Amino acid sequence: MKPEIQGFFDPATSTITYVVFERDGGACAVIDSVLDYDPKAGGTSTASADRVVDFIRQHGLKVEWLLETHAHADHLSAAPYLQEKIGGRIGIGSGIRTVQHAFSHVFARKGQHDGSQFGRLFEADEEFAIGALTARALHVPGHTPADMAYQIGDAVFVGDTLFMPDVGTARCDFPGGSASQLYQSIRRLLSLPAETRLFMCHDYPPAGRGPAWEVTVAEQRSANIHVRDGVTEADFVAMRNARDATLAMPVLILPAIQVNISAGQLPEAEENGVRYLKIPLNAF
Ligand SMILES: [Fe+2]
Repeated sequence: MKPEIQGFFDPATSTITYVVFERDGGACAVIDSVLDYDPKAGGTSTASADRVVDFIRQHGLKVEWLLETHAHADHLSAAPYLQEKIGGRIGIGSGIRTVQHAFSHVFARKGQHDGSQFGRLFEADEEFAIGALTARALHVPGHTPADMAYQIGDAVFVGDTLFMPDVGTARCDFPGGSASQLYQSIRRLLSLPAETRLFMCHDYPPAGRGPAWEVTVAEQRSANIHVRDGVTEADFVAMRNARDATLAMPVLILPAIQVNISAGQLPEAEENGVRYLKIPLNAF
């Protein structure tokens, strides 16, 4: 079963949004949508999401799912905007409850920590349908405790686990992250058949190549600079932890997390009609 796949690269956040579909006129899922956010102006825009809407309309697709691989720290989700425009249920891993709980103090967040903001919470290995396509939610913790990958036919949307072979792997230093868990999650993905198509959630291309997001299991096993075959868990954990100690927090982590743990819903407007994000001081 080979789904049709269209990727949309967002140069501002290096995120790839995917439309996965049966065929023109068939069912589809959107994975990891982006609401554009300019932190200097506090401005949102739907240019990236509208590219996805246009594609879906041009191809006559019926949106069944708006999937998130995890609560992203680098961009705001456009899932509620897409839902209003084109429908679909918002799905994420059930571990999002842990992430909501972990961040409830940081943001003095009222609301529920039961994941009820989302339309569907996937348990590990749970199967679901996208039209006639069978999809499976794989629990791949490490970057966050709640990360999921989505296996749809011969394709896997890996979320923040692997990056392209010349970039390596996702960081593991956010609350609840674990380099050891990420190693185990990645080995599980790399135990899939060699020809399995893997689709990255981000790409940070080194100088000299343009953005790319598709690679096979075989290519990752032979060439990934962090986790190719032969790299031991101990070596990986030492490398990952040392590297993470040098990384600054993502520019949008504070705006992104508070919105994304609420399934992309923006905060309610105050009496003056303006919505406000919260910036906790010294919380990280
Ligand atoms: Fe992430």
